[in-house]
Amino acid sequence: MSLLDDSHPARRDEGAPPAADGFSPNADGSLLSADGASLNADGSCLNADGSLLRVSGLSRWVAGPRRWGWRRERQPVLKAVDFAIRPGELIGLAGVSGAGKSTLLNMMLGLARADSGEIWCQGRRIRPGSVRALRWYRRVVQYIPQDPAASLDPRMRVRELVREPLVHLGIDGDHQRRVSEALAQVGLDGSFLERRPESLSGGQAQRVAIARAIAVRPRLLLADEPLSGLDLPVQAKVTQVLKSLNHDAGIALLLISHDLSVVCRLCQRTLILDAGAIIEDRPTAALFRQPAQAHTAALLRAATTFSTALSTPVPPSEAAGRRPTTQEIPS
Ligand SMILES: Nc1ncnc2c1ncn2[C@@H]1O[C@H](COP(=O)(O)OP(=O)(O)OP(=O)(O)O)[C@@H](O)[C@H]1O
Ligand SMILES: [Mg+2]
Repeated sequence: MSLLDDSHPARRDEGAPPAADGFSPNADGSLLSADGASLNADGSCLNADGSLLRVSGLSRWVAGPRRWGWRRERQPVLKAVDFAIRPGELIGLAGVSGAGKSTLLNMMLGLARADSGEIWCQGRRIRPGSVRALRWYRRVVQYIPQDPAASLDPRMRVRELVREPLVHLGIDGDHQRRVSEALAQVGLDGSFLERRPESLSGGQAQRVAIARAIAVRPRLLLADEPLSGLDLPVQAKVTQVLKSLNHDAGIALLLISHDLSVVCRLCQRTLILDAGAIIEDRPTAALFRQPAQAHTAALLRAATTFSTALSTPVPPSEAAGRRPTTQEIPS
C-alpha cells in the first residue's frame, strides 16, 4: 500500500478501524503496527506514545562569528529540542528574537537541515527519512506563513491559489468542492474565487493562505507569527478562524508568536524557547500564573509593560465579555 494513497490508515478519518496491513489488535481494542504506531478507534494513526507528531533531540549548529587569528567556532542554534504534539492540541511557541523559533519550525517543515534528532509523525519517521515519507508528511502537516502577501502568487486567482497544493501533492478527488469548502471554513464566500491577491485586504489574504493550508485536510498546522502583520480587529477574526478549525475540524496548531497575549488567548500549552533550548513546556494557564523560569517571567513582564504602554482601547465585545459580532470585525 502506498503512503500517498488515500486508503492508507493515516489518511482515513472516518469509519471503523480497517484491517490495515501491518496492524494487529491490542488488548485495549486499539491497533498496533509493526513499527509501534497505534491506530485509533476512528481509524487515524498516531505515534506509539499517542502523539501526532514528536520532535526528539533536534539540534542545529552554525558557524560562529569570524574572529581574527581564531578558528571559527561552531555555535548551537537549537539544542536537543524535545516535545510532542497530541491530536487537536493548540500549542504556543514563544521566545525572544533569535531564540530559534523559525529555525525549529523550518526543520519541522523539512525545509531546514538538522544536525541530529528525529521527527516522527503518525508512526512514521520523517527525519531522517525518505523523500516519499516527506511527501506524505506534507499532507498531514501544513504551514501558515507570516506574510500572506509574499506567499500568494499575484498572478493567480484565489481559486487557483487554494487548489495549487492539491495538484502539487497529487491529491485526487473533487478539487472544486475542496476549494469551496476550505474557503467556507475560513469565512470567505464564493465571490472571492476569481479575485487576485492584490484585491484582498491583509486579513482576507491571510485567510486565503489558511484555506490553502487546510484544503489538503492536514492534521496539524504550523504557523510562524500568522497574526503579526494584522491590526487588532483583524487579528481577532483570524484567531477566531484558527479556533474554529481546531474546534470543528480537530486540526492541531503550533503557533509561534512574539505576542504572549495571542498565545494566552489561543493555546492550551505553551513552550518557551530560550537560546535554542525549550525551558518550559506547560499548560498555558499555569505558565502564565506562575512561570517556573526567570526568563519566562521576564517575557511576561515585557509583554505586560508593552501592552500597557500601548493602552489599546478595548473593543466593545471584549469589554462586555462576549465574542465580537461579525459587524464589529473587519475582514
Ligand atoms: N544558517 C544560519 N547561519 C548562521 N546563523 C543562523 C542560521 N540560521 C539561523 N541562525 C541564527 O540562529 C538564531 C535563531 O534564528 P531564528 O530565525 O530561528 O530566530 P527566531 O526565534 O525565529 O527570531 P525572530 O523572533 O526574530 O523571528 C539567530 O541568532 C540566527 O542568526
Ligand atoms: Mg522567526
